[in-house]
Amino acid sequence: MNNHITLYEAIGGGATVRRMVEAFYPHVQAHPLLGPLFPADITPVMEKQYLFLSQFFGGPSLYSDQYGHPMMRGRHLPFPITVERAEAWLSCMDQALQDIGMSEELREIVLHRLSGPAHHFVNTPDEE
Ligand code: HEM
Repeated sequence: MNNHITLYEAIGGGATVRRMVEAFYPHVQAHPLLGPLFPADITPVMEKQYLFLSQFFGGPSLYSDQYGHPMMRGRHLPFPITVERAEAWLSCMDQALQDIGMSEELREIVLHRLSGPAHHFVNTPDEE
């Protein structure tokens, strides 16, 4: 991949981030370990995720412009995030990227970029 372009640009910009997010949350809501953590009205969560991921992939700072410093680990502290849930989150994202037809090369880069934060947000030991 060309070093001079951001991942945001490489995947196709905001339109792709929008499609990713729209494909992702139905998988999250259907997942037995993840669905119960989320509110029934998922629209505001989707919107925040669109703002955040745009920024996280190197696009415009949409999330910070509206909500200030992301402090994402802190924002996840109210929720019991286990390793199992982090892996489930990443597998829902993998599914979503396949749903929207992202190339395998980009899919691997995107998932790799998200796996650091997903594991960093773990705040609860797995149940025995
Ligand atoms: C590790 C597994 C994860 C779980 C179980 C999880 C779960 C959640 C939950 C329950 C919410 C709150 C929804 C609400 O009631 O508003 C949330 C919010 C959010 N999550 Fe995650 N999340 C995970 C990983 C991630 C990752 C890897 C990212 C991005 C790198 C991310 C980005 C966000 C954003 C942007 C919000 C909205 C924050 C806000 O309120 O401003 N999450 N997440």
